[in-house]
Amino acid sequence: MVKKLASCIGEYRKYAIATPIIMLGEAIMEILIPLIMANMIDFGIQNKDIDYTIRMGVLMIGCTLISLACGAGGGVCAAHAAMGFAKNLRARLFRKVQTFSFANIDKFSTASLVTRLTTDVTNTQNAFQMLIRMAVRAPAMMIGAAVMAIRINPTLSTVFIVVIPILAVCLYLIMSRAHPRFGIMMEKYDALNTSVQENLTGIRVVKAFVREDYENKKFNDSADQVRKAQLRAEKLVILTSPVMQLCMYGCILAVLWFGGNMVIEGSFQVGKLSSFISYVMQTLISLMMLSMVIMMFTISMASMRRICEVLDEVPEIGEVSQPVTEIKDGSIEFKNVSFSYSKDRNNLTLQHVNLSIASGETIGIIGGTGSAKSTLVQLIPRLYDVTDGELLVGGVDVRKYHEDSLRNAVSMVLQKNVLFSGTIRDNLKWGDENATDEEIIEACKAADAYEFIKSFPYGLDTDLGQGGVNVSGGQKQRLCIARALLKKPKIIILDDSTSAVDTATDARIRAAFREKLSGTTTLIIAQRITSVQDADKVIVLNDGQIDDFGTPAELMERNQIYREVYQQQQKGARE
Ligand SMILES: Nc1ncnc2c1ncn2[C@@H]1O[C@H](COP(=O)(O)OP(=O)(O)OP(=O)(O)O)[C@@H](O)[C@H]1O
Ligand SMILES: [Mg+2]
Repeated sequence: MVKKLASCIGEYRKYAIATPIIMLGEAIMEILIPLIMANMIDFGIQNKDIDYTIRMGVLMIGCTLISLACGAGGGVCAAHAAMGFAKNLRARLFRKVQTFSFANIDKFSTASLVTRLTTDVTNTQNAFQMLIRMAVRAPAMMIGAAVMAIRINPTLSTVFIVVIPILAVCLYLIMSRAHPRFGIMMEKYDALNTSVQENLTGIRVVKAFVREDYENKKFNDSADQVRKAQLRAEKLVILTSPVMQLCMYGCILAVLWFGGNMVIEGSFQVGKLSSFISYVMQTLISLMMLSMVIMMFTISMASMRRICEVLDEVPEIGEVSQPVTEIKDGSIEFKNVSFSYSKDRNNLTLQHVNLSIASGETIGIIGGTGSAKSTLVQLIPRLYDVTDGELLVGGVDVRKYHEDSLRNAVSMVLQKNVLFSGTIRDNLKWGDENATDEEIIEACKAADAYEFIKSFPYGLDTDLGQGGVNVSGGQKQRLCIARALLKKPKIIILDDSTSAVDTATDARIRAAFREKLSGTTTLIIAQRITSVQDADKVIVLNDGQIDDFGTPAELMERNQIYREVYQQQQKGARE
């Protein structure tokens, strides 16, 4: 896991390597300083040798300045390395998420992906920064200072040689218990982010249904869950400080007691005692630093695991080794296709579908809500892979195509569509980057969108605002159709894409399609029977199965569902 993340350091490697080396310099200087001080007191001051004292003093100042410079330099390098690392890590995560299929995204949920790209990366970045600053410095300082102390007075050193293992065991116990609690905390963060994200994207619906109080409560509950989880984790971590202090002051007390007696007896010098205390402090403080590094690492372990989950996720829709890039024609064939969102063969959303659609045909699809209409057509541009059976487009299994080629040939207007912030022209160019204004206008005309675009003061340059808030539902649908048309696809699929336009507009769009897209296979999912009345054939779906497939006239004759829907809608129109 660590190795995988470490590869994100990339071009910032030099900073990451320089930091511990510079920090080592700081540690060496800090170890030297008490030694110089001991010499200054024991030889300079006690012998009243001013020259020697001054020389030692200057040396000490020199060491302090070098230590300061190393500390600052190390800090700067560490910041460069950690921020560069975070940048690369985020970019890598983002790139990975772009390769995800719908199924992968369903698995993680968008909110969780957002937390992973933000909070989790920040946690990892902080841990990394701490790690490169302290991982070498703290142990070096601890060992160096301990060795110095033992050299000065081996007997007195038994004090902290006893204390260190006790402290280490305590710290280990605390950290190992805190680790899973931080994992739980991050899950609560996910829930909180889901709540925020849902609320903000759906703020208009929340307001329309006067659900603010409910949403507030839901948010407060989530925030409280985070608070509790964090408290549970931090409660343990916070123990490190008193345990540490207890050990440190206990140690100093013991050293002063035994060391003071030695000084009185004359077997130990004052200067040595003072530097001995400095070394004891340095050893223990380094140990604390080390424990903090371990703690940060513990906290970020949960985050690192979550990041690696995203990096390790295998995109559901893999590429074959020699993909076909040419789509011959717009024919579609379902051969005994079954599909389940959960890949559970006992819980099939689509069951044993057999269909054959010739290139250029216009096919209507009707069926009750939840009858798997959207599911059926999503398989064609391979937004999901079939669970069983085979789906051929242009006579070739969709899994054999290059993904981009397939999606360029199969243009789909999703049921839940989005436009992005930017002008109308920017949005339409998603269909074809190089489209000229004439082509854009032609597509808009076919989608019956040109009239209203013309009525806007800025025409195609009208800014749509975030998520296309500036246009009505029906206008948005027509822009989405125009965007799909610009791809000049071999197959175009409209998933309930004219549900928000009136019947007259709907009829105009269909007429334009017939005229301009005669060679394109067109699949139209619709609730209104009029939308599919002039299709070549109509698929009637019922509960994930094909109930019937035939021309509208045939279905009128023999299919009960079709006839019922027709009669109901006729009745509705007359009333
Ligand atoms: N991403 C998903 N994960 C799991 N189950 C899903 C998912 N999308 C749809 N389903 C389920 O699959 C079934 C078919 O849904 P589908 O969206 O295909 O219906 P539909 O015929 O398009 O309905 P509508 O007319 O309301 O759009 C439903 O029972 C739905 O709950
Ligand atoms: Mg649907």
